[in-house]
Amino acid sequence: MIHPHAPKKLRIGIVGLGYWGPNLARVLNSLEDCVVTVLCDRDPERLQSFAQKYPMAHTSIDAAEIMTTEHVDAIIISTPTKTHFHLAQLALTNGIHTFVEKPLATSTAECDALINLADANNLKLFVGHVFLHSAPVEKLKEMVLNDEFGEIYYMSSTRLNLGPVRHDVSALWDLAPHDISIMLELMESSPVAVNCSGLAYLNPLNHDVCTLNIHFENNRMGIIHVSWLDPHKKREMTIVGSKKMAIYNDIESLEKIKIYDNGVEFEDLSHQDSTTYADFRVSYRYGDIHSPRINEVEPLKAELKDFIDCIIENKQPKTDGHNGRDVVQVLEAAERSLNQKLGDVPLASLLRADTVKEMKLVR
Ligand SMILES: NC(=O)c1ccc[n+]([C@@H]2O[C@H](COP(=O)([O-])OP(=O)(O)OC[C@H]3O[C@@H](n4cnc5c(N)ncnc54)[C@H](O)[C@@H]3O)[C@@H](O)[C@H]2O)c1
Repeated sequence: MIHPHAPKKLRIGIVGLGYWGPNLARVLNSLEDCVVTVLCDRDPERLQSFAQKYPMAHTSIDAAEIMTTEHVDAIIISTPTKTHFHLAQLALTNGIHTFVEKPLATSTAECDALINLADANNLKLFVGHVFLHSAPVEKLKEMVLNDEFGEIYYMSSTRLNLGPVRHDVSALWDLAPHDISIMLELMESSPVAVNCSGLAYLNPLNHDVCTLNIHFENNRMGIIHVSWLDPHKKREMTIVGSKKMAIYNDIESLEKIKIYDNGVEFEDLSHQDSTTYADFRVSYRYGDIHSPRINEVEPLKAELKDFIDCIIENKQPKTDGHNGRDVVQVLEAAERSLNQKLGDVPLASLLRADTVKEMKLVR
């Protein structure tokens, strides 16, 4: 369905042309239904050197100025995390569909304000949880929905590299949003509490290395280890289920997912009135390992295309403001656990009622 007021080519502005913004610009330039009309970075040199590639685009060092021009229908915000809320608020107030890079904002209160603003102005609010648009995660989701893993026990992930070190947020806020968004998507269960620890070496205000445990309903757990102070680039997630297990290695070029038909079974040898551990025989199943075929599309391309399609076809994005809020709520609770050494911090009812309902129907 084409929205009656949809323009022919969506005019897009990009705010923030540091490391990530140019990738967004490159991909947007390859999409048919949009045109990059505005470029903004508060660093004039950065703006000027990048703008040479886009001579037709209007440029500005002032985000407030571009939000009030006639040149944009939608804006992509790719600036440091602490600026997201202010810039997104400015865009939504000016009637502009808004894509915000992860994490959506620095608190759930900010997320709520953005969600309400988008709803009140009938605008799309989209968050850059790029892995939810990636073929490997979609494949894993399909396997979860088909019950191929059986009962999911836990997922663990590592996201390590040497840099880039952020100045405005910790490795938790910078790196873990990817893993949290994937786990919330795949776990099929609501998170109930988080526990986070970490250390700051380079800057006493920002943790460089963190481990986060997310406790989910149904005795499930997510374990996340992030660091920008590691010699080895690693982006790996393990899923352990009662029937099968999987390793998703995002750095692999061909076989990103490996499925292991492995498991542990207990054979009950007990007599009716005897139930000691010795009455059970443990047997290990080492079955086949296979790598499912994945039709890989560049996740960033799939993500930006979805943003544009959602605007043109007036659809609700999968990675909408609520999805952004779900991730920020976990981060906010993890930050409390980390800074105040609180141990387990409970989460309020995190997922939207409709998501939980969908899960119940599926199971
Ligand atoms: N999805 C991903 O895989 C991915 C990867 C990297 C970064 N990111 C996200 O992208 C965002 C940007 O990250 P980056 O690595 O490009 O950061 P960066 O620091 O390299 O670049 C940020 C740019 O924003 C500009 N800027 C800052 N405040 C501004 C303002 N108020 N108005 C206009 N310009 C402003 C800076 O001058 C800089 O050029 C972050 O939210 C980050 O989490 C996402």
